[in-house]
Amino acid sequence: MKNRLLSSLAAIIIIAILSFSCSTAPDKVPDDGKIILTPKPGPEPRINGTKIFGVRPGSPFMFKIPATGLRPIKYEVINLPDGLTCDNSTGMITGTLNSPGEYKTIVRATNNKGTAEREFRIVCGEQLALTPHMGWNSWYVWENHVTDSIMRAAADAMVSSGMIDHGYMYINIDDCWSVKPGSDDPSLTGEPRDASGMINSNKRFPDMKDMTDYIHSLGLKAGIYTSPGELTCAGHVAAYQYEEKDVARFVEWGFDFLKYDWCSYSKVGNKELLEDLQKPYLLISSIIRKQNRDIILNLCQYGMGDVWKWGKQVGGQSWRTAGDLGGSFEGIGKALFRDGFDVYSRDSLHLYGGPGGWNDPDYLLIGYLSNWKGQTVPTPLTPNEQYTHVSLWSIVAAPLIFSGDITRLDEFTLSLLTNDEIIEVDQDPLGKPGYRVSKNGDTEVWIRNLEDGSKAVGLFNRGENEAEVTAVWEEIGVTGKQRVRDLWRQKDLGDFSDKYTSTVPVHGVVMLRLWPEKL
Ligand code: GLA
Repeated sequence: MKNRLLSSLAAIIIIAILSFSCSTAPDKVPDDGKIILTPKPGPEPRINGTKIFGVRPGSPFMFKIPATGLRPIKYEVINLPDGLTCDNSTGMITGTLNSPGEYKTIVRATNNKGTAEREFRIVCGEQLALTPHMGWNSWYVWENHVTDSIMRAAADAMVSSGMIDHGYMYINIDDCWSVKPGSDDPSLTGEPRDASGMINSNKRFPDMKDMTDYIHSLGLKAGIYTSPGELTCAGHVAAYQYEEKDVARFVEWGFDFLKYDWCSYSKVGNKELLEDLQKPYLLISSIIRKQNRDIILNLCQYGMGDVWKWGKQVGGQSWRTAGDLGGSFEGIGKALFRDGFDVYSRDSLHLYGGPGGWNDPDYLLIGYLSNWKGQTVPTPLTPNEQYTHVSLWSIVAAPLIFSGDITRLDEFTLSLLTNDEIIEVDQDPLGKPGYRVSKNGDTEVWIRNLEDGSKAVGLFNRGENEAEVTAVWEEIGVTGKQRVRDLWRQKDLGDFSDKYTSTVPVHGVVMLRLWPEKL
């Protein structure tokens, strides 16, 4: 009896411990309806990510070769130009190039399952961002709670999740790293600038240089955020009238990317005037250009004044094409279709993006996101909408910047972020963004012309019922027999002569690639 009592007591204690640990453990994303299509990377080496990389003469060069496959991998680069070296065990290419030019190298990755080789072009000149940026940004999951340790953990997760092996490169802090005047939170208060006017980080970021050193040591690059106004959108100290000093500080701290968010600049400039819209960006890019460091400039001004028509001219490597995709948590699905499909087709945005300057429809809002009510919760997008999101971004050559919780990646979200054949479309070196070729009620066909003469084709269904969607060769501009491949599944579907039809789920997509028979 006593024994039974004791064992029941023990069972109760164990159940209590288990339920406590379950309730404190991170929530699991429910797997209902989430069909993973992306095959897992094999053990043999495969080189991924961008095939072309720009650097300015004299700037420090850093590029880590992204490759999947069993470790250890030995990396080699054939025809690496003088001034650069490759670390054979990490795949980090570092050094400096002084002479402008295009250097064609062959990157090789070898493990005990085999060898992979691929051409990798290094272009030393004025253009950076020869393919859209890939990375992570803190905003949509951490908003105003971001800290140094969150950034380091994000960098760690970029490596441990394997995202780095698929080409993801930037770890970007968004708003809320500088002092917030008038805040009653002691971690945000303090002197906004030092005696010489150099901007200070707030107490949540005790040592920016040490943080970027850490991010770089993992083979990643670091990004920061500010505004041309006096304050950022969240009311933190920004760059107005301190532009030179703030860029100098970002260089001293070791940043590689700057998001420059209009926000309170409306108090300085008139957003109805093109000249005023351009002025702060011209100023900051001319300062950045003088630095001995390559810093990507992301214009964030929500598409005002048709920024896509001049974003590159004022020195931007990318520009937001609309407002915040996740401004309202519940509205992300709607915004995806509006800012993704509608804005792009209405304004023919494909005419403007390209190597060195990309349309940016905002971040990938999948995985765990802030619901703006103090919790991080799974994206409101259905699994099919998530496929649509990533597919459309790759067709329109958008930056692939994930902004969910990278330390809490479920298999489904990871599979969406790491499909190398989808990423290959996004990163295609020709850099021609895709566009809509046909719309039939709620279904749309989008295409993107790729460097090897093939085409990516997205069959989208925006409707509330499953639908058949057909890519008709004549409409998409191909003739004759085409080899058709399903990119999410990474499977050939066969040869087709005048069209291809597929059933597409509600709000879903089928992503194809078509090669003419002779390729
Ligand atoms: C604006 C931008 C967002 C984010 C926030 C930060 O809303 O569009 O991407 O940077 O500011 O406050």
